[in-house]
Amino acid sequence: MPTLAPKWTNPTGGWWWHARAWRSQNAWRPVMQAMHDEWVQQSPSADRLVLIGPSAGWMLSREWLGRFKRVETWDIDPWAGRLFDWRHGRALRHAGVMVHHFVGDAWEHESEWLRIDQESLYWFDNVLGQLRFMQAPELVRQRIERVKTRLSHVAWGSVHDRYSGPLRGMDTAPPAWRSSCGIDLLAPRAQDWLQAWGAEGSWLDHLTENVFRPQTPVLNLAWPFKPDFGHWLEMGWQLP
Ligand SMILES: C[S@@+](CC[C@H](N)C(=O)[O-])C[C@H]1O[C@@H](n2cnc3c(N)ncnc32)[C@H](O)[C@@H]1O
Repeated sequence: MPTLAPKWTNPTGGWWWHARAWRSQNAWRPVMQAMHDEWVQQSPSADRLVLIGPSAGWMLSREWLGRFKRVETWDIDPWAGRLFDWRHGRALRHAGVMVHHFVGDAWEHESEWLRIDQESLYWFDNVLGQLRFMQAPELVRQRIERVKTRLSHVAWGSVHDRYSGPLRGMDTAPPAWRSSCGIDLLAPRAQDWLQAWGAEGSWLDHLTENVFRPQTPVLNLAWPFKPDFGHWLEMGWQLP
């Protein structure tokens, strides 16, 4: 499979992502609050947290990060670690959390971060739904299957795009809702939710329907990425 060299910008992150995330803090606050609640209420506990693709942690909950003894991040964006420290470093040092940043393609360096133990928790931070911008669909599906197989003996979780597309741009994002994983865009409950949000036109499938084992409970979130463009996020956990 193709690997990625560290880059200042890439289709899923880099300077443009930092600029958008910084500018969008107010608009994204409700979805960030819902994600924060999920992390602090549902997260398995562990000493070591490994974050894959966290960028500067623009959407991460500092309270959740502060529960671990050690946080390790892997991102291909060379700015990510420094900005992560600027954003969260002081609070995490204060909470006694050791933070280590690694720059590189997480898939290529899997043997450096994956340990089969009970002390580690792995979090895929809005990265699995972005694979489709880097690879052909069959490679995306293979990558997701590999993640599931390789992590089947450890605790892990992910937030990822299920679908994204245009919005009318004047409706408030509807509340998050719970379901089993992999709900289809055409399911009546999904259609009602998207209609309430002002979804229109055609929505892109991010090929993440099988990230979790069948029947895994998930939280579905409406993320107003831009005023006229939304992402449907799916968030959940897998235990060994
Ligand atoms: C949409 S951003 C995630 C943002 C993050 N959730 C936050 O709170 O700011 C996706 C991130 O994944 C990173 N990424 C993409 N492919 C990667 C890979 N193969 N290995 C490591 N990081 C990767 C990108 O550089 C980017 O920072």
